[in-house]
Amino acid sequence: MLLAKSLLLLCSAVAVMARQSSAAVASGAIFVGVDTTKPDATPLDIFKDPINHATAISSIVAFSARKNGFTPSVVPAKSLVGPMGNFMKHLASFPGFFLEMNEQRPVHLTGSLIQLERAVREASLHHKALIGRSMRDLVPGYIPDETIDHWVLSLVVMDVPSDSAYARLFLIYLTMDIKTDEAGTAIIPEQRAMVNWSILRVNRSFLTAYADSMVDIVPITKVRDTIDLLTSPKDITGENIFAAPACRTML
Ligand SMILES: *[C@@H]1O[C@H](CO)[C@@H](O)[C@H](O)[C@H]1NC(C)=O
Ligand SMILES: *[C@@H]1O[C@H](CO)[C@@H](O)[C@H](O)[C@H]1NC(C)=O
Repeated sequence: MLLAKSLLLLCSAVAVMARQSSAAVASGAIFVGVDTTKPDATPLDIFKDPINHATAISSIVAFSARKNGFTPSVVPAKSLVGPMGNFMKHLASFPGFFLEMNEQRPVHLTGSLIQLERAVREASLHHKALIGRSMRDLVPGYIPDETIDHWVLSLVVMDVPSDSAYARLFLIYLTMDIKTDEAGTAIIPEQRAMVNWSILRVNRSFLTAYADSMVDIVPITKVRDTIDLLTSPKDITGENIFAAPACRTML
């Protein structure tokens, strides 16, 4: 009788632990515009000559991501929540960058991916179709760790027009609950989720004027490589992604 009772207690303790809740980040990045970077540009040219600014901006984004440990391609999804906030703050205070807008918008989700895409599209301020679709693609379909029930889908959009004094970065976060069934398949419960929008404006004459100092601090990272760095793996079952944060590697 006593044994049965303590077993029952033990079992309920395990059940409580199994329902422990935690948060994780799924991340992606996209580039909008035309990358006119010259293949033979030197690191100094990358910052000095506006024609190469897609690479200059991509380099600053990658620099900031690495400095703050926001490297979703190699760091476990559960260890990215803090670094994500630091990455955003660091970029917003980077010389030549300034926060143009910061806004939160509620989105009502009813369970399907198509509906999520539409809700995000309608809540978007720019590049609506692209952002709706890209956000939908960040929803993990299979979540092997049942303690993760709270997700931030993070999308970085580098918008570098060839003919403008400014470039812009959109940092878009969709904060939502995602549940799983016994097989680990994701289920989107009906909910009021939140989209946070931050728009950072990049002063391109600043990059040109301070190219000498920039080149000493910021390693060159091509647009493609920055996108790869910020992209979470599609399969998060690998132990590299669910390993302890101590296994973090800096690229
Ligand atoms: C979204 O904005 C709200 C209000 O400023 C803030 O509390 C929350 O932490 C933000 N979420 C993310 C993921 O940045
Ligand atoms: C952009 O940077 C240039 C060069 O440093 C500076 O002269 C100009 O005032 C800056 N513009 C803004 C809006 O900060």
